[in-house]
Amino acid sequence: MGKPLKKELLIAPSILAGDFGHLADEAKRIEEAGADMIHFDIMDGHFVPNLTLGPKALAAVNQATNLFLDVHIMVYNPFDFVKRLALAGADRITFHFEATEDVEKVLAYIRRTGIEAGLAFRPETSQEFIARFLPLADLVLLMTVSPGFGGQKFHEEVLDKIRFIREICEKQDLRKGGVVPKEGETLPPYAIQVDGGIDDKTAPLCVEAGANVLVAGTYLFKESGLKEGIELLKGCGA
Ligand code: DX5
Ligand code: ZN
Repeated sequence: MGKPLKKELLIAPSILAGDFGHLADEAKRIEEAGADMIHFDIMDGHFVPNLTLGPKALAAVNQATNLFLDVHIMVYNPFDFVKRLALAGADRITFHFEATEDVEKVLAYIRRTGIEAGLAFRPETSQEFIARFLPLADLVLLMTVSPGFGGQKFHEEVLDKIRFIREICEKQDLRKGGVVPKEGETLPPYAIQVDGGIDDKTAPLCVEAGANVLVAGTYLFKESGLKEGIELLKGCGA
């Protein structure tokens, strides 16, 4: 818990695209390749039509790495999983706005467990719902594909949403963790994450629009090679 993050443009390889027969080795490989964190997708077969990993696999990954564990839960009743995932080593839990009526309660509960809270939005969810949660969350995840599967095509229309949210953060001077800095205080920018179809072509578009945390699965594991791909994606922030 509470491991520090490193740079301003953060790269989060999605272990969903890795080899499920060797998750611990994949976690080590991600760390050695220079990633800032590991993105860990949990699905329930209801909120999205797929099943993936759970707390036990997360605990195994946590044993294998010191990297920050960025857990994205695509499940109904997110409240019920917070404690178990925090105990298994999650450093941040990001749940979906569309999965619960108790968004504020779940955000507060995650923070009370001592880890970061993230809030995710499907591509089709209106940007008008997002602003009021910004000060209550440590990160906003704007999905750039329909959640549920890796390897899908990037939704270009989400770029406007990224721009819209970054503008709100700037207008309200919201920084990391939803905090407004005091006079003279320097704080890192608010965390806007994108997830789905991120590669060397779509990453620069997202960064230009205002994203500063990039999740990538298929591109890093099946196209570029982990180390080379992470370096290329990091270059989008330069
Ligand atoms: C999809 C997951 C993603 C997935 C992204 O629902 O949230 O994290 O791993 O995979 P790519 O990068 O292949 O689109
Ligand atoms: Zn994800």
